[in-house]
Amino acid sequence: VFHSSAMVKPRRKHIFNIYTGFYCSVIILPQICICSLFSTPPSDQFKKHPEAFPVATNREPFPWRELRLPSMVIPLHYDLFVHPNLTSLDFVASEKIEVLVRDATQFIILHSKDLEIMNAALHSEEDLRYRKPGKKLNVLSYPAHQQIALLVPETLMADLRYYVVIDFQAKLSDGFEGFYKSTYRTLDGETRTIAVTDFEPTEARTAFPCFDEPLFKANFSIKIRRERGHIALSNMPKIKTVELEGGLLEDHFETTVKMSTYLVAYIVCDFKSVSGTTTSGVKVSIYASPDKWSQTHYALEASLKLLAFYENYFDINYPLPKLDLVAIPDFGSGAMENWGLITYRETSLLFDPRTSSASDKLWVTRVIAHELAHQWFGNLVTMEWWNDIWLNEGFATYMELISVNATYPELQIDNYFLDVCFEVIKRDSLNSSHPISNEAKTPTQIHEMFDAVSYNKGACILNMLKDFLSEEKFQKGIIHYLKKFSFRNAKNDDLWSSLSNSCLEGDFTSGGFCYSDSKMTSNTLNFLGQNVEVKEMMTTWTLQKGIPLVVVNQEGHSLRLRQERFLKGVFKEDPSWRALQEGYLWHIPLTYSTSSSNGIHRYILKSKTDTLVLPEKTSWVKFNVDSNGYYIVHYEGHGWDQLITQLTQNHTLLRSKDRIDLIHDAFQLVSAGRLTLDKALDLTHYLQHETNVLAILKGLEYLESFYHMMERRNISDVTENLKHYLLRYFKPVIDAQSWSDEGSVWDRMLRTALLKLACHLNHAPCIRKATELFSQWMESNGKLNIPTDVLKIVYSVGAQTTTGWNSLLEHYELSVSGAEKNKILYALSTSKHQEKLMKLIELAMEGKVIKTQDLASLLHAIARNPKGQQLAWNFVRENWTHLLKKFDLGSFAMRFIISGTTSHFSSKDELQEVQLFFESLKAQGSHLDIFQIVLETIPKNIEWLEKNLPTLRTWLLVKI
Ligand code: BES
Ligand code: ZN
Repeated sequence: VFHSSAMVKPRRKHIFNIYTGFYCSVIILPQICICSLFSTPPSDQFKKHPEAFPVATNREPFPWRELRLPSMVIPLHYDLFVHPNLTSLDFVASEKIEVLVRDATQFIILHSKDLEIMNAALHSEEDLRYRKPGKKLNVLSYPAHQQIALLVPETLMADLRYYVVIDFQAKLSDGFEGFYKSTYRTLDGETRTIAVTDFEPTEARTAFPCFDEPLFKANFSIKIRRERGHIALSNMPKIKTVELEGGLLEDHFETTVKMSTYLVAYIVCDFKSVSGTTTSGVKVSIYASPDKWSQTHYALEASLKLLAFYENYFDINYPLPKLDLVAIPDFGSGAMENWGLITYRETSLLFDPRTSSASDKLWVTRVIAHELAHQWFGNLVTMEWWNDIWLNEGFATYMELISVNATYPELQIDNYFLDVCFEVIKRDSLNSSHPISNEAKTPTQIHEMFDAVSYNKGACILNMLKDFLSEEKFQKGIIHYLKKFSFRNAKNDDLWSSLSNSCLEGDFTSGGFCYSDSKMTSNTLNFLGQNVEVKEMMTTWTLQKGIPLVVVNQEGHSLRLRQERFLKGVFKEDPSWRALQEGYLWHIPLTYSTSSSNGIHRYILKSKTDTLVLPEKTSWVKFNVDSNGYYIVHYEGHGWDQLITQLTQNHTLLRSKDRIDLIHDAFQLVSAGRLTLDKALDLTHYLQHETNVLAILKGLEYLESFYHMMERRNISDVTENLKHYLLRYFKPVIDAQSWSDEGSVWDRMLRTALLKLACHLNHAPCIRKATELFSQWMESNGKLNIPTDVLKIVYSVGAQTTTGWNSLLEHYELSVSGAEKNKILYALSTSKHQEKLMKLIELAMEGKVIKTQDLASLLHAIARNPKGQQLAWNFVRENWTHLLKKFDLGSFAMRFIISGTTSHFSSKDELQEVQLFFESLKAQGSHLDIFQIVLETIPKNIEWLEKNLPTLRTWLLVKI
């Protein structure tokens, strides 16, 4: 949901000597390699110099200094028992962890946060066998690192197994992480409570003491105690239910496969479900609160289809017997891929035919596809450490494209995928961006890794590689990767070698080379070349931040090429330009087509400059065919003019994605001072004849964003003229829209976008129709079905009167459709009355009528309203500490609140306010990378306005 995210600053990466790395992994066992890194065993260091160690809460020295856990002791199996009390809102629990000691030690370090530990004991294998009592353990705690140390009276012996038994308790969390409570209202107005977990990345430790790092995979046997009126769900199916004295029930779940702690999940609730079974025998169920049961059917259909697709595509069966998808009433992010028990925000899973629009359907399908992809990418094969979270999130985002394309082609997700890349380019063209693989140590830094760079850029460079290798080779490679690393962890390099190593079953190997039975010689050569190439190429995209700009200069038959680092708002004449360019070089798999040959030509640009010779003279050339590459292209000389001429004369000679790509690149180049705004605007002029919805939407998006900027800044002459221009220019398409749900998904999206714009611009026919529908809706007491695609437009127009606004708020409280509630909340946030906007914020802070989970998007919506921007910003500044009580500092929500209420600012005064605020936060010890992004974005906005406002003004005068 919150896709504007923070980025981590680049830090120097520790590069391992490749020979040492090779030696360790191939010749010697990895364990030995790790040991040899320590000169003295950690236990001994502590004995010799206890004063050099941190101090535990009881003032004793704490035996471990690092944020990362030691590897002397590793977990094999957890027996976890949990008993939540949904009345007193707390839980008691116990666990028995089977551990393997790899190196003799006198302590065990575990993660634990906000847990009250009542008891800890250690059992040897013998103790358990003869039912001897264990030894009581002394527990030290070091909250700064969220760790506890279990001090063992005698040394634990290497290669032996031990059992750690811990009793603990805690309150159910009030937020959205760990083991937390969530509530919902039934149709009769009763409030009910459920308990649910959400652990990724580092919150399993708030639910049970554990080795909370992705590398420590183990098996989990879970037991949950509950009341009769509830059900309990966990990763695995239930084996049995035991009745206890006093009427409580205890559900025992099957033992999980080997997995990371962040994927453990359990829920106690009273939800209802629908189920189906795939042909491969997996039982899939969708759970929701009882009144929302009727909205679960689309999710069931989609998840059955998508699960079958992935099993087939990856050639690996989903390894668990069941998969539950649960709609949780209070949810921090959009969804979470817990193995076998995926949790969703209600609006990410439920589909209500009465109120869910075309764009809601696309979203639900995407989220289901994304979380199901994680069952392989993430759950089966997990990144070694959070620095490579893109291996989870980038892949899941990429797989959305592949799987939805195959299962729901009518959604045309490939068109939408262009936006996935365009969105991250905004961030990656700032100097404050970071490489895809990036160091992350503290929990806040780890949280911050879940950003557009990991998700979107990760997905885009995978798509670029697929285009380079061919879909078939790419698929083979990832199957290879998934099979090789199943139930284990992987890093960047492992992926590249799997993708370049075509040695699959059926091939044979010799001396590190791979031979295919067919076409042996040519294949071998091909492989040798590609093997090196993939890794060499891809590391230029993962270890380097930013996006390249390819400058093309056509001179007769030759194309002179040059690559630079693309930076928004940094111009060649700026003093900082040189330094910012230094050291950047990408291996860019270029593609192009020309006016004389529409085929796709390929060339890898590996150097700063290069020359391509064309066989014939062409009037234009278009690089980055179908926008499959992650780079921006600038056509010097007459390049752009030739393309604009072609678009105007006959745009269909260029592929539709290429047209969208050109619009995008042109406006990006404006913000980098390479192209004048009027040229980019001229390019959009052909859109009058455009039939591709996405191209129209892309052009509209830029024009609208200029309108919003002018409106916010109260630049009234340009606002007025832009309004006239937009209404005149788009009049034929606006007038062609019906107020219905007819048409293909993208026709429907276009309808929503155009009518929303028209009503926002006060276009009389639009307001008239919306007002009419809204009065009918009021007369029907909210019973009338309004077409879903225009629902939020009708509500927004209705919300402009006080009666309308109040009725909508009443209806909001009663509605059981999240899709509808989102539309109403949006409508309410477009009111011009500040006291109404303030009331919404208060309600969301209170968390009853408007849930706290919706506060971030509400603040964002209010900040977009010219009458609300100041209000939202002031609110965030003045209530920062209150907000911090509701959301973790690095969480999606918090980052979204900050960027949503500040990054549109475009004046020096606003910049100063933001600077001051961030300074004060830093002084309090809060630091986020999003601060830097915002502080880089606002000056760019200011500069953009200074440079381009005069051009926009004159261009409009000529056009209207
Ligand atoms: N693994 C994430 C959930 C997550 C996000 C955990 C941030 C920890 C920190 C999940 O797979 C995810 O990516 N969810 C997205 C939705 C998806 C369709 C992009 C979300 O929550 O927005
Ligand atoms: Zn994800």
